Amino acid sequence: MPENTMENASCVLVKGGTVCNADRTFEADVLIEDGIISQIGSDLNAPDGAKVVDAAGKLVIPGGIDTHTHLNAHSDDANFANMAVVDDFFVGTKAALAGGTTMILDHCVPGRGQSMLEKYEIWRNTADEMVCCDYSLHVAVTWWGDKTKEEIATLCSEKGVNSFKMYMAYKDSIMVTDDVMYKAFNCIKENGALAMVHAENGDVIECNCKKLLNSGVTGPEGHLMSRPEEVEAEATGRAIMIANQTNCPLYVVHVMSKSAADVVASARKQGKVIFGEPIAAGLGSDGSHYFNKEWRHAAGHVMSPPLRPDNETPAYLMDMLANNSLQATGSDNCTFTIEQKAVGKDDFTKIPNGTNGLEDRMSVIWEKGVHSGKMDPCRFVAVTSTNAAKIFNFYPKKGVIQVGADADIVVWDAEATRTISKDTHHQAVDFNIFEGMECHGVPLVTISRGKVVWENGELNVTKGSGKYIYNPVHAPEAYARIAQRDKVNQPVKVDREPYTGQVWPAGGDNKNAAEPSKKAEQAKSPPAAGFKAPAPSSGLPESRPQTKRGHRDLHASSFSLSGQQTDDADGHRNAYKVVAPPGGRSSIQF
Ligand code: URP
Ligand code: ZN
Repeated sequence: MPENTMENASCVLVKGGTVCNADRTFEADVLIEDGIISQIGSDLNAPDGAKVVDAAGKLVIPGGIDTHTHLNAHSDDANFANMAVVDDFFVGTKAALAGGTTMILDHCVPGRGQSMLEKYEIWRNTADEMVCCDYSLHVAVTWWGDKTKEEIATLCSEKGVNSFKMYMAYKDSIMVTDDVMYKAFNCIKENGALAMVHAENGDVIECNCKKLLNSGVTGPEGHLMSRPEEVEAEATGRAIMIANQTNCPLYVVHVMSKSAADVVASARKQGKVIFGEPIAAGLGSDGSHYFNKEWRHAAGHVMSPPLRPDNETPAYLMDMLANNSLQATGSDNCTFTIEQKAVGKDDFTKIPNGTNGLEDRMSVIWEKGVHSGKMDPCRFVAVTSTNAAKIFNFYPKKGVIQVGADADIVVWDAEATRTISKDTHHQAVDFNIFEGMECHGVPLVTISRGKVVWENGELNVTKGSGKYIYNPVHAPEAYARIAQRDKVNQPVKVDREPYTGQVWPAGGDNKNAAEPSKKAEQAKSPPAAGFKAPAPSSGLPESRPQTKRGHRDLHASSFSLSGQQTDDADGHRNAYKVVAPPGGRSSIQF
């Protein structure tokens, strides 16, 4: 796999701050050389020519990592209404740096029938020329063809992709059905990668949209009405079930509702290897905006899944993030101008989906999470940076301030405030869903790969200076557990003497056989109680876990992420040893 080369060789000393990592805070200076953190300690001397950044009284935190952006949605991406987003890789990453985010994970989404590898190359070529901060890519599986397996394997082994997204919404364009998800999850798992889902039931949404339009609801409120919470929660549960059946780790993107968050939390409680991502929009805004009388205001909030009308949802999602029911945060930044949104002025289904959040994610989470008292600064670092680095497997290169890590650092002023507005943000979009929100928590200085790129309210960036980060497969955060479960959860055959009795229908010499006329009757009648009909082919592996009495345990799948025991096949126990404790056991803990 190609190595990432270092540029912008420079020397920076961040002096007098409080370093805040996900596990602890401590007073220290941080010396950066050639883009890497070279020393952390007290009273470090600045080498000749070094730039000194005064961090006294401020936090020094790992740069934010936005797990979810769309900075290259293009005319041939069916779900983006045949138009390009306004915040592209250049403008988007500039704005990210101004907001304290130093790395993004963007979505490369091939259309149906398109090659994932070809699309990946298009994304790389576009991004490499434009990005001002480092980036990685998720690649979407939008259809299943002869080459899909091979392409997933190549993306994993040669292209640094270790996460694959499936859309359960956007019917007739990029939505995939359960059978494709099952095949894809199996393949993703075989390659040691992570499955991701946009969880909404696309079939139901399609029917709801038709019904609403027929009844005369054409405005943005129809978008919300067509995609109620249970539509999100059902798909979330279904994706988790398929992940469980394939023993594939799963990352649920943009968890937007209380009920979907509950589904994720409950799966995690059962020990399933699931991660949940709330986004800035869902944590900082709500669905009341869809009922705003001004069309442009309501349409400006259209995204999928929608913001929820229950105004307690943002605080609920923040609580889930604080208590580790949810783990990492993105923005799902996918921005269209009001003019672009207006293609749906008479039909809400035509409004291109997406909102901002890339620049404001860090401040919104500080305000609603830390300033509100729901989480401490260490948890803030975990959910805005460290956990993403672990889940997508580039920790400790990023996501932590330690010697040897990339110098992606933010000097954070916890006391300062700023008011978010479209008039002052650095994004190109002409609308901001957080308009007027006053946030404590301001990025004073942003350092990307050792270069000061944001200071005194000024950006100093170079187009194309960001690097693509190759992410290896088998992230320990997920695969330490998955691999062990594969080992201990293999189905165990029951050894027994072969059956030597009669087999129905009995032959003519069988004295106990039914009369021919009776046999014909039996064949027509439903099976009597106790009769064991041959199992219809379910597509599931034949040998499923058995109980002591040899009955198939219908509650257990052949693969279980949730508490199947190594000695299940040995017979009854009075007590159960928990091999896979709820929440899982991992060498790396959040
Ligand atoms: O509304 C959204 N989320 N827009 C971006 C496309 C997607 O669904 O991720
Ligand atoms: Zn998205």
